[in-house]
This record gives sequence, structure tokens and C-alpha cells, in this order.
Amino acid sequence: MEGASGSLLEVRDFAIRYGKKQTVQGVGFSLAPGEVLSLVGESGSGKTSVIRALLGCLGGGGTICGGAALFEGRDLTQLSEEAWKKLRGRELSMIFQDTGAMLNPVRKIGSQFIEYILLHTHSIKTKEEARKRCCTLLGRMNLANPESILGAYPFELSGGMRQRVGIAMALAFHPKLLLADEPTAALDVTTQAQIVAELLRIVRESGTAMILVTHNIGVAACVSDKILVMSGGRVLEYGATQDILHSPKSDYTKKLLASVPTLGGRRYVE
Ligand SMILES: Nc1ncnc2c1ncn2[C@@H]1O[C@H](COP(=O)(O)OP(=O)(O)O)[C@@H](O)[C@H]1O
Ligand SMILES: [Mg+2]
Repeated sequence: MEGASGSLLEVRDFAIRYGKKQTVQGVGFSLAPGEVLSLVGESGSGKTSVIRALLGCLGGGGTICGGAALFEGRDLTQLSEEAWKKLRGRELSMIFQDTGAMLNPVRKIGSQFIEYILLHTHSIKTKEEARKRCCTLLGRMNLANPESILGAYPFELSGGMRQRVGIAMALAFHPKLLLADEPTAALDVTTQAQIVAELLRIVRESGTAMILVTHNIGVAACVSDKILVMSGGRVLEYGATQDILHSPKSDYTKKLLASVPTLGGRRYVE
């Protein structure tokens, strides 16, 4: 089901405050099913606040103090906790900079992942079936030996592998929308590029829409259909990726684009 406008998500005039301090205002954008939007902007510009607010989990006493976020026509800002429980993880899912750190350190990956699958998938009834499903999901994230991953504790895996496990879990139920907050920022550059490529392949294959928060406008240019540039809690620029790359309006966006390194004489974003 889609909203009246045909979009999966329609954010209008969003405003967020922490205590008396209003930190986000007038943020609006829309996302069609399967579309990828990148949120770009300096640290403190409000990117994390926007996507946490969408998922109903603002920290630090933050509240949404204006606007609406229509997900298939339903306003996420008005949902009951009960309604959220049905949506989170299933229709909307989120990955963080260190999603792997959310794994319980004293339990093997397998027991956590299998329990997660059994709890949420009515069609899977036995541990054996759930284990097979976990292996398929881990394989999709290019994790070569899923059985050994399931038998490992989180600390036995590298940061990149843990993050791949976290992403596999977030995508387990084919969410319609994935919110990814700098999902590779804690990893080395090569691993970052691989994981972003894997993530993009999976969301494209499964038709999952994604909002990707990234510092790197070069990455945004490569992966997204649309880009929204934020500064000081407001939208500085928003539009189709090609338009932003070829005719950026704000000086800030121009500066970001100019800072993208060139590779063999060609800019990464071209
Ligand atoms: N937990 C919090 N408590 C109080 N203020 C916060 C909290 N998180 C964010 N803020 C405020 O919101 C602003 C934007 O933060 P954030 O959304 O994390 O930006 P970004 O993800 O772009 O770095 C911060 O500068 C700060 O003023
Ligand atoms: Mg952030």
C-alpha cells in the first residue's frame, strides 16, 4: 500500500527539540518504494535526529515538535507503542554505526540470530529451519562460512564481520524501509566500500527503500537516487542526485563536492 501521493514515506515540515532547544526544523522529503536517499551534512547538522525520530527512538529526551512523517499514509509521529512494535524490524528497520555492538557479547551469534528469526517469523517453526534461514541471510552479506559465524561469539569476529551480521539481521524480514546511520563509519576504507556495495545490492534486489546517512557525498553520489544536504538542522539542498551533482545550488554543497577525491583524473562522483 502506498500513500495518496504514491510515496512510501512523506516527511513534511519536521521539527525536533531536545528540552527547550529546537535542533531540527522544516525538514521535508519524500521517498518512493525502493528509492535510496542520502542525508549528507556535517556533524551536528541533525541527520541522526531525523532518522531516529522516524523510528520513534529519539534519545536524550528529544521530541518531535512539529510536522508529520507519513509511512504508507500513516503518520509515524502519532503511532502507539503497540503499533510501533508491529512495524519496527519488520516494515522499518535501522542499522547504526556499530550495529554489531548491539549483539549480546556473552551469547553466540547463532543463538541470538535464530531466536530473532523464530520470534518474528510465523512460517518458520523449528530451530533447524531458522538456522538455514540465518545461513542464507549471512551468505547474502558475503559472509563466506555462515555456520562458523553462527558458532562464534561477537568478539571473535572482526568489526566488518560483526557489522555484516547486524545488517543481515536488519534485513531479515525484507523491510520496506531501511534507515542506515553511517553504517560503515567505524570500519576501514576498503571494508566500508565493500559493505556499502553489498548493502546497495541487497536493497536494490529486494526493493527496499533506504535512507543512508553519510559524511561522504561521493558515496551518496554513487548509491542514491536523491540527496538531501542538511546544515544546522535545516535542509540546505534537496533533489535528484544528478541535479545536485551537476548544478549544486549552495556553496556548502559545492564545497562538499570539491572535496571528493579524484581517482585516475576522474572524480569519484562522476
Ligand atoms: N541526546 C541528545 N541530547 C541533547 N541534544 C542532542 C542529542 N542528540 C542530538 N542533540 C542535538 O541535536 C543536534 C544534532 O545532532 P545529531 O542529530 O546527532 O546530528 P548529526 O547526526 O548530523 O551529527 C546536536 O548538535 C545537538 O544539539
Ligand atoms: Mg549522526
